[in-house]
Amino acid sequence: MKLAMLCGGHSSERPISFKSARSIVESLENTPPFLLIDTGRSEVFTDFDSQMRKNPLPPSPALVKKLLSHLEIHGIEKVCIMLHGGTGEDGHIQALLDLCRIPYTGSGMGASHVGMDKVLSKIIMEYYHVPTPPWTYLSKKGHTPPAPPFPLPVIVKPASEGSTVGLTKIEKECGWERAVEEAFQADDHILVERYIPGRELTIPVDETGAWPPVEIQPQKGLYDFESKYSEGMSRYICPANIIPSLLEKMNRDALLLYEKMRLQGVVRFDIRLDREDYFFLEVNTLPGMTSLSLVPMSFQAGGISYRELIQRIFYG
Ligand SMILES: Nc1ncnc2c1ncn2[C@@H]1O[C@H](COP(=O)(O)OP(=O)(O)O)[C@@H](O)[C@H]1O
Ligand SMILES: [Mg+2]
Repeated sequence: MKLAMLCGGHSSERPISFKSARSIVESLENTPPFLLIDTGRSEVFTDFDSQMRKNPLPPSPALVKKLLSHLEIHGIEKVCIMLHGGTGEDGHIQALLDLCRIPYTGSGMGASHVGMDKVLSKIIMEYYHVPTPPWTYLSKKGHTPPAPPFPLPVIVKPASEGSTVGLTKIEKECGWERAVEEAFQADDHILVERYIPGRELTIPVDETGAWPPVEIQPQKGLYDFESKYSEGMSRYICPANIIPSLLEKMNRDALLLYEKMRLQGVVRFDIRLDREDYFFLEVNTLPGMTSLSLVPMSFQAGGISYRELIQRIFYG
């Protein structure tokens, strides 16, 4: 089967996508080659170092046409989507591939879109009684209240950005206006959530079930961009030490959401745990896949090596 891997893209997570793709390529050294395509430039490439130095090109019909022509010329029969954030994760690329009848890894268009939008995801969580932090929705076109709607601290974040871009924890009321402004710079739709103190967890799920939970201990404050991507800025414990009855409940809710949100492939739920009360924050439909990422860590604890995990994603 002729395979292609899409990476790079236009989002703020472009460098992370290249890192995931590069780890995968390195792990598959003895298997048949596949085509690497940077969707941010619609370029076929082989050298990660030089591709990562290039900026994405402005989206246009010509850029989309070029992407499709690569798929056509090379007779691509299946695509592995290793894009993070933006149009690669929110259903756009998935829709384009659906129109071409080319199968791809991960969730479909609708589930990707809902998964990327924290407002829509939280509405589904509430519908199925899965605990999520109390929240309100603000739109750029609508009214912004002069003060936070919950007792401080609160979290202000864009509905559809990843990697903690535009997210602020407000501890003093004077930070409200600036936090809202910053979140609106990333998205026209934002949410304000009650801050949940306590522990930070993430649980990968795929068609076969929930995988061991990972606890994340950022060295300072929030699990933000720096804590996520700088070495030594966070400590990871896997499997996290959680009382079995509590873990069972969280896993049950994670599997319920996986089914109801119609997710596919490997996803990751981010969760806060305040003593014995847990709160689902979001789902990541295209989680990071470098050999040091959280999903590979969890699968490793579940007895699946990085290489096996990649084989499952790619060829499964
Ligand atoms: N309501 C909240 N209470 C406590 N911490 C939060 C809350 N919302 C977000 N955070 C912190 O910010 C991080 C990023 O938020 P998240 O909702 O997962 O968005 P994303 O990962 O897409 O930026 C979380 O991992 C957590 O550390
Ligand atoms: Mg997250």
